[in-house]
Amino acid sequence: MAAFAIGSATGRGLTAVPVVDTLTLQVLVDNATFGPFLPDLVLPGLSVKRHTGDPVGGVMSRTALHAEFGLSILATSRRDGSTAQVLVDFGYSPEAVRNNLAMLGIDLSGLDAAVLSHGHLDHYGGFRGFFPDEPRPQVPLYVGGEEVFCERIALIGDPPPIMGTLDRAALAKAGFMARISPEPQIIKQQAFSTGVIPLAGFERAAIPTQMRPGRGCDRNALNPSKRHLDQLPDDGEHELATCYNVKNLGLVVIASCSHRGVINSVRQAQKVSGIDKVHAVVGGFHLVRPRTEDEARRTVAEFATIDPTYIVPMHCTGDVFIQEAMRVMPQKIIRPYVGTELQFADW
Ligand SMILES: [Fe+2]
Repeated sequence: MAAFAIGSATGRGLTAVPVVDTLTLQVLVDNATFGPFLPDLVLPGLSVKRHTGDPVGGVMSRTALHAEFGLSILATSRRDGSTAQVLVDFGYSPEAVRNNLAMLGIDLSGLDAAVLSHGHLDHYGGFRGFFPDEPRPQVPLYVGGEEVFCERIALIGDPPPIMGTLDRAALAKAGFMARISPEPQIIKQQAFSTGVIPLAGFERAAIPTQMRPGRGCDRNALNPSKRHLDQLPDDGEHELATCYNVKNLGLVVIASCSHRGVINSVRQAQKVSGIDKVHAVVGGFHLVRPRTEDEARRTVAEFATIDPTYIVPMHCTGDVFIQEAMRVMPQKIIRPYVGTELQFADW
């Protein structure tokens, strides 16, 4: 079996990306739960399992999965008999993370790597919940740029609230060693990151935060156009998508929050891998304010061109996109919730 697919070597592309035999995405944190009422599904190249109970008490146990405005997904892939476990984002609160890990019976002792998609609280806030006990591992954490550590303010309310900063020393103490990787990276020989996502299409960097160089981050390590400013609009330059190439199926793109645009994220995954076939696009597509309803509908039209087998909208995607996508391509849309497990394989 070919262990690698040869990718485009142009630009910042990877020369080859791994081909995994199977990929399982376990939703640890998302905005909603759905209780025990949704059926499991077995579809071409995808099975969906809904976990709602705890390992001891079963479905109507006295504890419940917690939902919150945040995202965390545990990706477990297998390739030629070896397993890689990659955590994508940390959710919003350590309490939800600890609760949901226990409820789902998840063992992170073999966690190989983590990716933080971008420096927003709803994606990093739960990092202390993963390894509460000493001694903690030193898990490599891929981030897309120094600016992930800059203080941010949220453009909601007057005065705008401080979103805070991601403290890299606290991250290390919690078990995660940050590696700044703006270029595409192969992760644990099974996954890859997109690197910086170009604003190549119609999508704009419409991000409801501003960042403050020099507060929490090293000014001199920022893009030269940003380092002398005290505050500027976030442009998502450091945002990453995490991707897999699943055997006989194609790309699975985990877009997290898509502040550079979900279509741009998918196009970048295609470009760096040299693989056009997209099996699934998973994550938050941020088609809510400051993006418009027109942009949400246009994104659906662009998805029809890319023609992924499945679209899995989560977190910050928004109802306009979901309703329009359900109208145009209902067979492609899979709704996940906290506890949902998505298994991708060519069975
Ligand atoms: Fe988000």
